[in-house]
Amino acid sequence: MAAMADAVHRHGALAGVELWHGGQRSGNVLSRAAGLPPQSLLAENVPWQCQRMDRDDIAKLRAWHRAAALRARDAGFDVVYFYAAHSYLLSQFMDGALNPRGDEYGGSFANRARLVRELLEDTRAAVGDRMAVALRIEVVGEDGSEREERAEFLNKIKYLVDMFDVTIPDYGVEMGPSRFFRKAALETHVAHIRAATGKPVVSVGHFTSPETMLSQLNRGVLDFIGAARPPIAAPFLPAKIRECIGCNICYAHDGLGAPTCCTQNPTMGEEFHQGGHPEHVTGLIGSKMTAENTPETTIPPVMIATGSLWRADGRGRSLPGGHASYADARTLTPDQVLDGARPTGPVVIFDDEGYDIAAGLADLLASEGHAVTYITPAGTVAEWTSYTVEQSRLQASLIDQGVTILTGQIVTSLGPKTAHLTCVYTGRTTQIPCGGFIPVTSQETLWLALKSANLTSLLGIGYARAPGLIAHAVQDGHATARSHPSPPILPRRERVIVKALAA
Ligand SMILES: Cc1cc2nc3c(=O)[nH]c(=O)nc-3n(C[C@H](O)[C@H](O)[C@H](O)COP(=O)(O)O)c2cc1C
Ligand code: SF4
Repeated sequence: MAAMADAVHRHGALAGVELWHGGQRSGNVLSRAAGLPPQSLLAENVPWQCQRMDRDDIAKLRAWHRAAALRARDAGFDVVYFYAAHSYLLSQFMDGALNPRGDEYGGSFANRARLVRELLEDTRAAVGDRMAVALRIEVVGEDGSEREERAEFLNKIKYLVDMFDVTIPDYGVEMGPSRFFRKAALETHVAHIRAATGKPVVSVGHFTSPETMLSQLNRGVLDFIGAARPPIAAPFLPAKIRECIGCNICYAHDGLGAPTCCTQNPTMGEEFHQGGHPEHVTGLIGSKMTAENTPETTIPPVMIATGSLWRADGRGRSLPGGHASYADARTLTPDQVLDGARPTGPVVIFDDEGYDIAAGLADLLASEGHAVTYITPAGTVAEWTSYTVEQSRLQASLIDQGVTILTGQIVTSLGPKTAHLTCVYTGRTTQIPCGGFIPVTSQETLWLALKSANLTSLLGIGYARAPGLIAHAVQDGHATARSHPSPPILPRRERVIVKALAA
């Protein structure tokens, strides 16, 4: 930790450490210790229950918290941050539904917030003025109520806090994907806290433009601009902008337990491993390329990172060999629909991919008045988008548009005016009306076509070779450009062991 604080200080910045306890949201898979929330409930995403914290547990938590703050101080950190938001332990205590306690930690909002206040008092007494204390907290409860109580509470505890980091419970808004949210989406929710407390306030809001940042500061909404995704895409923000597009692929990798990466900045996380630098990034421009319209060139290398097309034959995860009946006049690929082709009659969309294409097409066609049935072998619409914090809103959008959603089903074949479905669990088959069919299963890569056309001076990379996320294509383009003609540089994932300095 000291090495981290030193490194931050070398760049003229202050180092902060965020103290966190998951409470009911921690399954403790590694330790198998019972989770500790305000009441005994099932832990999140696992079928075992937590243990309600009693007074001894609360006393232990206070001691752990104090010790952690002191460790951070001794390691040279400048700011100790409290995470009292987003349904983790402190937020669970403040939430009337999750905290039905009858003791001094339950009941009124002041009681439910008692633990936050006690931890702040402990920390302030422990670190004195050596560290700044910051509190990340929601300005309303889960159901949007308690706005006044919470502002009043923050005003009462302001003598313990150097900066309020204010937010709201809905993580889907706070981490707002640009598909659904504009910049500065939190402003109307949090703008009152500065006046209510007279303390410095920070918040987030997908701030990518210096004008929006300045506007928030000049209008007295915030004192500090908080930013997580924007500087991942553009580490020199606000001086130099490479705009974060709000795709949340960085957060998805966090959730997948993989190192964070970025669609816009392929050097993210690789800066010191590979001599990469966020300013030395090759741009990629997409255009429609085929083996026929792609010229052979004598000035190698020409890299092609696009050009793959969705398959019409159904080959994919569920039907690796596809099905002959997919070759039907009713079948349209996603590329054809995006080019303007439209089905007639009731449309069946088969989402074998799980990201956003099929749900997006369902949304588009339903908004144009088509009767749409969305089929997926998964349990939800666009299942993978739960990692990008988009899933629930995508599903809500299809429900609102009147799309029929059938989960746990695959389209095994087409019959006359029908699509034949098979339940992935029971194998039972059904038929539904089908006037237009859009399989979203997998793509045919341009690379193979180029190779078989002997266009050997062309280098197929990224999407042309293996369709995936835009982040994959950008990363592949960057790595290939930097390493060519050597093989692409692979990310290095060495495990660095920091030895204790003291014997
Ligand atoms: C990869 C990633 C990891 C995050 N981890 C944390 C975390 O550990 N603690 C926290 O308070 N917020 C975390 N956040 C949320 C951010 O602090 C921030 O609230 C959110 O990204 C919205 O701000 P932005 O629009 O500037 O990205 C994380 C965000 C991202 C993208
Ligand atoms: S992955 Fe997407 S959301 Fe995350 S920082 Fe990069 S561009 Fe922004």
